[in-house]
Amino acid sequence: MLAIGSDHAGFGLKQAVMAHLKERGIEFKDYGTYTEESCDYPDFAEAVSQAIIGGEADRGILICGTGIGISIAANRHREIRAAVCGDCFSAEATRQHNDANVLAMGARVVGEGLALKIVDTFLDTPFSNGTNHVRRISKMS
Ligand code: RB5
Repeated sequence: MLAIGSDHAGFGLKQAVMAHLKERGIEFKDYGTYTEESCDYPDFAEAVSQAIIGGEADRGILICGTGIGISIAANRHREIRAAVCGDCFSAEATRQHNDANVLAMGARVVGEGLALKIVDTFLDTPFSNGTNHVRRISKMS
């Protein structure tokens, strides 16, 4: 299961991402926010992080204005490897090399078309399982 969350700045793009996930038949749960009213991105980073840490979700998508604040908040957890991606190369590389379990995006940075391609790349790319990468990740956790 995929956990998805955003603040008010990411709300619109999150709706588009969720419609795309539905079209692809990917199971997800929306952890908020549920309106465009101003709110605090750490709250949604926390909800999605806890869903992953608790085993309810295996990966997550977080969206704020830049993708930065919400990824910083999520990365405070030892178990979370959140990567801000604004291009497909980074989305692919962070899955292959970092086994990133959260994709963060900035709704004020990427357009909807690119964002959906980034989502697909992130979801469809497996971790390489390379010895070097496994060792480096274990040094972080
Ligand atoms: C909200 O205005 C904005 O600060 C937030 O969405 C995010 O970009 C923070 O990193």
